[in-house]
Amino acid sequence: MKAILSEKYGTPDTLKLSEIAIPTPQPDQVLVKIHASSINFGNLVLLTGKPLPARFVFGLMKPKYPIPGGDMAGTVEAIGEKVTRFQVGDEVYGDLSSSGWSAFAEYVAVDEKSLAIKPRNLSFTEAAAVPMAGITALQAIRDKGMVRAGQEVLIHGASGGVGTFAVQIAKAFGAEVTAVVSTRNVDIVKSLGADHVIDYQKEDFGNYEHTYDVIIGVNGSQSISTYKRKLKENGKFIHVGGAENQMYQTMMLGSWLSKIGKKKFITFLQRANQQDLMVMKELIEEGQVKPVIDRTYFLSEIHEAFRYFEKGHSQGKVIITI
Ligand SMILES: NC(=O)c1ccc[n+]([C@@H]2O[C@H](COP(=O)([O-])OP(=O)(O)OC[C@H]3O[C@@H](n4cnc5c(N)ncnc54)[C@H](OP(=O)(O)O)[C@@H]3O)[C@@H](O)[C@H]2O)c1
Repeated sequence: MKAILSEKYGTPDTLKLSEIAIPTPQPDQVLVKIHASSINFGNLVLLTGKPLPARFVFGLMKPKYPIPGGDMAGTVEAIGEKVTRFQVGDEVYGDLSSSGWSAFAEYVAVDEKSLAIKPRNLSFTEAAAVPMAGITALQAIRDKGMVRAGQEVLIHGASGGVGTFAVQIAKAFGAEVTAVVSTRNVDIVKSLGADHVIDYQKEDFGNYEHTYDVIIGVNGSQSISTYKRKLKENGKFIHVGGAENQMYQTMMLGSWLSKIGKKKFITFLQRANQQDLMVMKELIEEGQVKPVIDRTYFLSEIHEAFRYFEKGHSQGKVIITI
């Protein structure tokens, strides 16, 4: 089969399109013929080995997982003898970032618990956009933000892979949503249901008097003191991503502020799981959430796809078709 190999840390140029053997599924594994995958920030970490502490997970000197690629959508081709939830021919999707990666390839053998049946109203290309970004947004809003109907939620950096899901999921939970984006992304977030949009190229949301119940920091570089000022009395700031110093500020200063006051500052890492793939499937089939796709590349164009993604200006997701 064709697969992308990443044998050393480096730039997108280190990725090699190679021919390798199709994997054989273990008794509790499913062999999936992959139709599409997508790029997330985690793929960049696996590619570059940066930030350096990530190497304790991904391999100190070279990538522990030679075939990158976390998100995938495809068709079940074969099943191990202990597999109970899937049959040959099922259309599935999954996030393999906790189960060996390997989605930039024509086939993958994966534990059945990493998969769910894909939303029936999405193509494989669309379904591959969902797993990691969708589940990150879901866990930020539902588990960390504990967003409830009627609450005011601000999504800072709402136009990329995670942000476009976050706007829609917060709306699905009944929140009044304010999206902070650049001028070219105003219409995108309005079309996803944002009630208010702040164009960060024209105005600084930190200057407004208004405060929020929950702020989801997806992309941006504001200081923790700005977010603190923008929270209501019992408000929560959830750090998903953005400038690296924000993460350290949230972990250190934020956890201290959380202890001494009512406002909470939380940073978290998403956890891929089958249950949340099924929750996303339900939200998508009910028409409450849809993936936003920016660009689609062939597997052979992976270098170009990474070069585009690493600029950090994607409008929704970047897809790789296999
Ligand atoms: N905690 C977790 O488990 C987890 C999981 C997945 C991702 N993440 C993190 O989440 C972040 C977003 O990931 P992603 O995949 O959504 O990234 P992405 O798709 O690359 O995000 C790109 C988008 O962000 C917007 N943006 C860039 N700078 C901005 C700014 N200063 N203010 C507002 N918007 C800005 C860009 O629009 P403009 O350039 O037009 O502004 C673009 O639309 C990353 O930092 C990633 O590491 C965390």
